[in-house]
Amino acid sequence: MTKVLLTGGAGFIGSHTCLALLEEGLSVGVLDDFSNGSPEALRRVAELAGLGALRQESPGRWSTGDSGPADLTLLRGDVRCPGDLDRAFADGIGAVLHFAGLKAVGESVAQPLRYWDVNVTGSLRLLEAMGRHGCRTLVFSSSATLYGSTDRVPIPETAPLQPINPYGYTKAAVERMLADVAASSPGWRIARLRYFNPVGAHPSGRLGEDPSGSPNNLFPYLCQVAAGRRPRLDVFGGDWPTPDGTGVRDYLHVMDLAEGHRRALAVLEAEPPQLLTLNLGSGSGHSVLDLVRAFETTNGLAVPFSVVGRRPGDSAVSIADPQEAERRMGWRTRRSLADICRDGWAWQSANPGGFGEGESSLDG
Ligand code: WQD
Repeated sequence: MTKVLLTGGAGFIGSHTCLALLEEGLSVGVLDDFSNGSPEALRRVAELAGLGALRQESPGRWSTGDSGPADLTLLRGDVRCPGDLDRAFADGIGAVLHFAGLKAVGESVAQPLRYWDVNVTGSLRLLEAMGRHGCRTLVFSSSATLYGSTDRVPIPETAPLQPINPYGYTKAAVERMLADVAASSPGWRIARLRYFNPVGAHPSGRLGEDPSGSPNNLFPYLCQVAAGRRPRLDVFGGDWPTPDGTGVRDYLHVMDLAEGHRRALAVLEAEPPQLLTLNLGSGSGHSVLDLVRAFETTNGLAVPFSVVGRRPGDSAVSIADPQEAERRMGWRTRRSLADICRDGWAWQSANPGGFGEGESSLDG
């Protein structure tokens, strides 16, 4: 394996996966526009991986240098820009993990064209660049949201794709694009990983989710309420057809998710060209109130909340059938809801303001 490119690698899932790949001894390049990720996250990833400092080599380019088998290069850039992509591929990329994208259901309802541009145009430009540079191994950050409001619980990969919000439609569109590319020529090795609800943080407290602006997703919002950054959690709907009336989701620890990416890459590299589609989830469901109570009990604190109206684009229940991921790559979640709550709070309490601003934290 020459070098792996992570688009959006400065973001929540990308940064945790970057660390897992570096710890595996891989050489990693990251392309990120820092719109929802932080260069400070990658400075810390380099530190946690024992690579030393990320030093600026030129405007918009930082590197740990080739001090050993694993090294990290960071490029500031946009996946929708062919020139930025060509710069990222110039280092000789053997495989791509495509994290760059927007991922909030509510926000996608309000800003559909932005979601179609970033998620779909960005993926199209990336695939064109991969073609130009002879790279045909791709792990795609897909999502359970493309199943929509399904009655089948737990949800297998064979369930119909019936998105109910623009975010889900963009993920379904990119999955279709990847299937067409895989069918167009025999050499493509593609994994479409359908995340359920990634949450938690690295146990060191040095990495975690730091969404720009007000968090759209439950867990980071809950953590910010616990840290006193927000007065109260709004629970979107108390009248869903669930045991306690609040939405049920399949929450998985981001460290388990990072491991899932490492294994998917290894499977693609070891096996003949294929289009692999896998759910990544725990197979267990927890309600909003279950998560609030687990967070309070695990961390010995109170999280003020009020139950309000439902959020447009939401569904009642989303739980993975994760059997295929275990069968195809020996992967399943290993961390509990308590681990998620403990590690998420370790991050939030140690970093009440998140990573801080901009590129100032990087040398040079
Ligand atoms: C979870 C539950 C809300 C916020 C989306 C994507 C999914 C993944 C994660 C990619 C729901 C409720 C939320 C709040 C609340 N993205 N909620 N108050 O919408 O299930 O999944 O994000 O990795 O693919 O679809 O996640 O965290 O927004 O919502 O009550 O302030 O929490 O109604 O029941 P969602 P979420």
